[in-house]
Amino acid sequence: MPGLTIAGTGRYLPGRAYTNHDLARVLDTNDEWIRQRTGIVQRHYCPVGQGAADLALPACQEALASAGLEPRDIDFILFNTMTPDHLFPGSGTLVGARLGCAGVPALDFRAQCAAMLYSFQVADALLSRDGIRRILIVGAEAHAALMPWLDREILEGTTQRKPSPEAWELASRHRGWGVVFGDGAGAVVVERSEEQGTGVLAVDLHSDGNDAAQLCIPAGFRVGSYLGGGDPDSTLIHMQGREVFKQAVLRLPRSVEAVCETAGVRVSDVDWFIAHQANQRINDAVCERLGIRPETMPSNIERYGNTSAATIPILLDEMRRDGRLQRGQLICLLAFGAGFHWGSVLVRI
Ligand code: UT7
Repeated sequence: MPGLTIAGTGRYLPGRAYTNHDLARVLDTNDEWIRQRTGIVQRHYCPVGQGAADLALPACQEALASAGLEPRDIDFILFNTMTPDHLFPGSGTLVGARLGCAGVPALDFRAQCAAMLYSFQVADALLSRDGIRRILIVGAEAHAALMPWLDREILEGTTQRKPSPEAWELASRHRGWGVVFGDGAGAVVVERSEEQGTGVLAVDLHSDGNDAAQLCIPAGFRVGSYLGGGDPDSTLIHMQGREVFKQAVLRLPRSVEAVCETAGVRVSDVDWFIAHQANQRINDAVCERLGIRPETMPSNIERYGNTSAATIPILLDEMRRDGRLQRGQLICLLAFGAGFHWGSVLVRI
C-alpha cells in the first residue's frame, strides 16, 4: 500500500496584527483577560472585500514553491474552511482557478476546526487510487466577515470616533468568541510515497451532531427562515464556550490514546503533537492528561488566535520551515471543533 509524505507547505497571514488592546476599543474586554483565559495576544484579520480563497492563494503558491511543483502537478484540491467565500460554490474551486489548476477536482470540507484531520484521511485514501499522486490540502478562514464589530477605523485607533452604544453592546455580548478568532491560511502538498512505513498510520475520527447547537452559526437554508430570516443574531457564532472547552479536554486525550493503540505505538513515541489552536488552556490540559511534555505540543496561538481550519497547516508550515519537522518523525494531528467533529491522525512523515 502506498503512503503519503509532506512535499511542501505554505502559510499566509494577512496585513497587520491586531492586539488585545485594539479589541478593547470595540468591545468590553481587556488584555489581561484574553491572555489569561486563552493565551492569545494578537491575531490577523482578512482585509475588507477579501475572503478565504484570497488568503488561501498565497499559502498554496508558497506550498507549491516549497515542494518544487507547478500547479499542473496537483491532482486534487481539498479545501477546509468554516468561512467560505460564498454559500456556493465552495472555495476550493475558486482557489484552484486562481492558482492555475482549473479542471482539477476540488472538494470543500465542512468539519470546521477538525477539517484538516478529515482531509488527511481522505487524501490518504485518494492517493491509493491510480492517477492521483499529489494533493493540495488547504485551510483558510476569513472570520473577520462575521465579527460582531465592523468599524476598522475604531479598531485600529485611527479615528476619535467611539462605537455607538448599540454597536458596543452587541460586540460586548459576543465577546466570549469575538476575541478568540483570527484569520489566515495554511497549505500542505501531500504526495504519494512508496516508502514502507511512511504516511498515515492510524486515524481516530468522530462526529456527533447531538451537540451541534453548542457551537454553530444557526442561519442557513432552513425553509421559512432563509439565512436566518432577517434575524441578525442567527448569522453570528453561538458558542457555549465552557461546555465546548470541557468536551475538548475530555475527548482529545481519549482520541490520542486510541489512535496510538490502533497504530501499535506508545503515546511517548510521538515526536510532535500538532494540535488545533483554540485555547492554550485546552492544549495544556490535554498535555497534562496524556502525561506528555508540553514542549512536544507546540503553540502559536499567542500570535494568530484561533484560525479554525487553518491552525494545523499554519503550524505545520512554521515547524517545517524552522527545521523542527524532520523526515522520519511521528506526528499526531489533533483537533476538536463545531459539529462536534474531533479526533486525531497519526502520520510518519
Ligand atoms: O475552535 C473551535 C472550538 N472552540 C473552542 O474550543 C472554544 C472553547 N472555549 C473556550 O476557549 C473558552 O470557553 C472561552 C475562551 C471562549 C471563554 O472562556 P471562559 O473561561 O470559558 O469564560 P466564560 O465564557 O465562562 O466567562 C467567564 C467570565 C464571564 O464573566 P462573569 O459572568 O463571570 O462576570 C464573562 O462575561 O468572563 C467574561 N468574559 C470576558 N471578559 C472579558 C467572557 N469573554 C470575555 C472577554 N473579555 N472577551
